[in-house]
Amino acid sequence: MKYLVVGGAGFIGSNLVDELIKQKHEVAVLDNLSTGKKSNIHKKAKFIKADITKLKKLRPHFKGVDGVFHLAAIPRVPLSIEKPIETHEANVNGTLNVLMAARDAGVKRIVYSASSSAYGDTKVLPVHEELKPAPMSPYGLQKYIGEEYARIFALLYNMETVSLRYFNVYGPRMADAGSYLSVVKTFLNQKSAKQALSIIGDGEQTRSFTHVSDVVRANILAMQGKKVGKGEVINIGTPKSYSVNQIAKWIGGPRIYLPPRIEPKHSCADITKAKKLLGWSPKISLEKGIAELLVVS
Ligand SMILES: NC(=O)c1ccc[n+]([C@@H]2O[C@H](COP(=O)([O-])OP(=O)(O)OC[C@H]3O[C@@H](n4cnc5c(N)ncnc54)[C@H](O)[C@@H]3O)[C@@H](O)[C@H]2O)c1
Repeated sequence: MKYLVVGGAGFIGSNLVDELIKQKHEVAVLDNLSTGKKSNIHKKAKFIKADITKLKKLRPHFKGVDGVFHLAAIPRVPLSIEKPIETHEANVNGTLNVLMAARDAGVKRIVYSASSSAYGDTKVLPVHEELKPAPMSPYGLQKYIGEEYARIFALLYNMETVSLRYFNVYGPRMADAGSYLSVVKTFLNQKSAKQALSIIGDGEQTRSFTHVSDVVRANILAMQGKKVGKGEVINIGTPKSYSVNQIAKWIGGPRIYLPPRIEPKHSCADITKAKKLLGWSPKISLEKGIAELLVVS
């Protein structure tokens, strides 16, 4: 098949590209390299430098494509709080442009990278897809609007869409600098710099962490699955969650505690729908994923 991976120079997108090429698909990557890196892109993938906020320039690259994986976004919660308009432009208007370009080129299916940040702080755990979204940041809201656009495009325009809500993705090539780092990467960086691990709040907040290889597998199942395509929203996470203190324990070393910030206290994913519609469940445990990263870091 011929796939276009929008945002394919980034952390998750580039891991997806590698797997698609391994499976012998023809792959093109469209990215503006704002947070992604050219060095992430597989040599066998065609690279198109373009910005999803410019619809006219996108259109030619969607012709003849069987499926689009849409991962491009500014995935930074603090930045979205600081710059809601700029992040809205990429995350919402950019997503609408990708859907329009795909629709007009007759692309059969789009898999959209959504986010568990749509849930916000909920008392119901594990979170399931029927809960009312209550995002706590512009980023969470923007990602949620993208899902809704994807659903509406499936409803109105004879195209197939699926939205995957990821929960804290980690693994090779995750961002290693900048304003937003996964807690796993922050601790790995601090350990290799022989610094104390910095824990926000009391460290008892828990999260569902998902290995990037599991997210890649979910994307391919969502692109090829027969039971999806009508704008479904599906959690891609782990039903078991771990505290920040537990992660610090696995990585090892001294700790310092910093003031808490506004964030959900707990999160973990109900993956009944992913199992039922995609036949997906995670394969890599957090302990194993961290052990692998400790070897390479
Ligand atoms: N990493 C996570 O834990 C996580 C969790 C939930 C959802 N997501 C979603 O998954 C997707 C991929 O995230 P990631 O962690 O790989 O982030 P990333 O920053 O590594 O990848 C995003 C890619 O999009 C590109 N991009 C950004 N703005 C663009 C624009 N205007 N035009 C073209 N390309 C643009 C960037 O250059 C980058 O290559 C995002 O949509 C994000 O919201 C990620």
